[in-house]
Amino acid sequence: MERTLVLIKPDGVKRRLVGRIFQRFEEKGLRIAALKLMNVSRPMAEEHYSVHRDKPFFRSLVDYITSGPVVAAVLEGSNAIAVVRKMCGATDGSKAEPGTIRGDFSMGIEKNIIHASDSHEAYEHEYRIFFRDEEILNYECGDEHIIY
Ligand code: TYD
Repeated sequence: MERTLVLIKPDGVKRRLVGRIFQRFEEKGLRIAALKLMNVSRPMAEEHYSVHRDKPFFRSLVDYITSGPVVAAVLEGSNAIAVVRKMCGATDGSKAEPGTIRGDFSMGIEKNIIHASDSHEAYEHEYRIFFRDEEILNYECGDEHIIY
């Protein structure tokens, strides 16, 4: 089992895409281990995107991710990090494959609907920004034979 952090970014929330996006993850067989709607402070955003601190788009990215609520989630499943990244599609929505979340719902490189951890190290860094350990729940779904 592997965990990954997902954020539905402010454009995804404002466009009312939360349910449709989580439907894809649930149908795929990922388990929701943590979930909340929340505002992201500037310090949280700067920490989350700290690897991009020196990039020209950093300030704009922080402005955007703090511009409205996000839905933060921890998803769990076999190879969850790679599976969720594949379902999100390429960073630039105008280049992302149809059938992916960005490919189906986004035309932008900044306003690209969703964030997903790109490695185990990234997950370990990111989840702590949004969740306390006790908010990540272990429970039986009862359908392991069907979905794994
Ligand atoms: P990155 O980690 O490269 O992409 P991904 O979200 O697919 O892991 O970049 C983080 C975010 O930074 C990306 O989702 C959107 C934003 N971004 C820009 O605004 N402009 C850019 O040129 C790039 C590469 C990213």
